[in-house]
Amino acid sequence: MTGTANEQARKTAEGLVYATGFGNEHSSEAVPGALPTGRNSPQRAPLGLYAEQLSGSAFTEPRAANHRSWLYRIRPSAAHPPFVRAEPRAVRSAPFTECAPDPNRLRWNPLPDPEGPTDFLDGLWTLGGNGDAAQRSGMAVHLYHANASMERRVFSNADGELLIVPERGGLLLRTELGLLRAVPGEVALIPRGVRFRVELLDAAPDGQGPAARGYVCENYGQPFRLPDLGPIGANGLANARDFRAPVAAYEDVEGPVEVVNKFCGNLWTATYDHSPLDVVAWHGNHVPYVYDLRRFNVIGSISYDHPDPSIFTVLTSPSDTPGLAGVDFVVFAPRWLVGEDTFRPPYFHRNVMTEYMGLIEGAYDAKAEGFVPGGGSLHNMMSAHGPDRETFDKASAAELVPQKIDDGLAFMFETRWPLTLTAQARDAGHLQRGYDDVWQGLQRHFRL
Ligand SMILES: [Fe+2]
Repeated sequence: MTGTANEQARKTAEGLVYATGFGNEHSSEAVPGALPTGRNSPQRAPLGLYAEQLSGSAFTEPRAANHRSWLYRIRPSAAHPPFVRAEPRAVRSAPFTECAPDPNRLRWNPLPDPEGPTDFLDGLWTLGGNGDAAQRSGMAVHLYHANASMERRVFSNADGELLIVPERGGLLLRTELGLLRAVPGEVALIPRGVRFRVELLDAAPDGQGPAARGYVCENYGQPFRLPDLGPIGANGLANARDFRAPVAAYEDVEGPVEVVNKFCGNLWTATYDHSPLDVVAWHGNHVPYVYDLRRFNVIGSISYDHPDPSIFTVLTSPSDTPGLAGVDFVVFAPRWLVGEDTFRPPYFHRNVMTEYMGLIEGAYDAKAEGFVPGGGSLHNMMSAHGPDRETFDKASAAELVPQKIDDGLAFMFETRWPLTLTAQARDAGHLQRGYDDVWQGLQRHFRL
């Protein structure tokens, strides 16, 4: 990808304006008068546009869970040729049946650099997941590495929403509903079925390697929402006002555009004679958004004990059982530690939930080494984990003065079901051998 293309994408990204709030009924028009007033489907929509509803929930779901947007577009989405199966490359979907679920603690280095020109879609690499995409339950963990923007190419995912967590390089997300910028430290969400294209804001630092790299949580289940706050009160954790949705922006492009559609786990492709990112106005609440993790209001202990990491939940995808998430997105953001007579790092743990952790920058306070930005660790259901030996020794002897943890940004996808690997994740050259060793040498201190 040329530096000029990066520069154009950067310039576009810098000028973006947003609508704010989470779950709001937004409305936006790129051309004055494009949005009908008083009705969704007038006999003739303004400016010769077509009216189309995009339903992210069943019509009849309760109002609080109802997601839909009305789009006013140059051509209706129905105007497209047949889709044909496409090469899946490294993308896999649930159900994951290539490997037996593995109880071992596992850790990976970052993905190796992409070979040849690789855009976001070609650079998607599935680590594993659970549930069943066709049943709309479960989740998948993907990583991506890219050195090129998607050109005349658009992706949409019928199987679930995509939470994109950039670790290296900024992204310009051109979606049907408008443009979003997402840089490391921010996360972006693309709702189920919303078409989008990913352009890169940065070139690779040395002209080689990935210009963009990161993680994706694909959520087949109920859309992510903000967690309830209970006794915390009306404010805190991720505040609704800090979420940013795009304003309408359309492209009026004739000529071939490839649309890749992930449907029940398979990739399908069709070449349109126009860009489907042609929505001139819209209103609704089935919208993409971006959120800056540095805005997270971290709440923790001011007396003793490390709270359960659920206190760091940014977004949750609920299940039918109250309090039991299909998947939670959790961030370990900069914070003060002030607990007295307390082992301050996250404690030793076995968990009915499954924890996949990634690192956006810096270091994580429960692992002194080996857990690197762009890498990840998997602690499957009931597998024993916790601070490594070095961290344990240090934290057990530390003088408990107030301490700022400000050199890292780690996150977790925590899911109710065990996570089964893909064969490529199990056999990956970047899977670390000997991860168990970090817990070796934890001395016996017991004495009567
Ligand atoms: Fe844990």
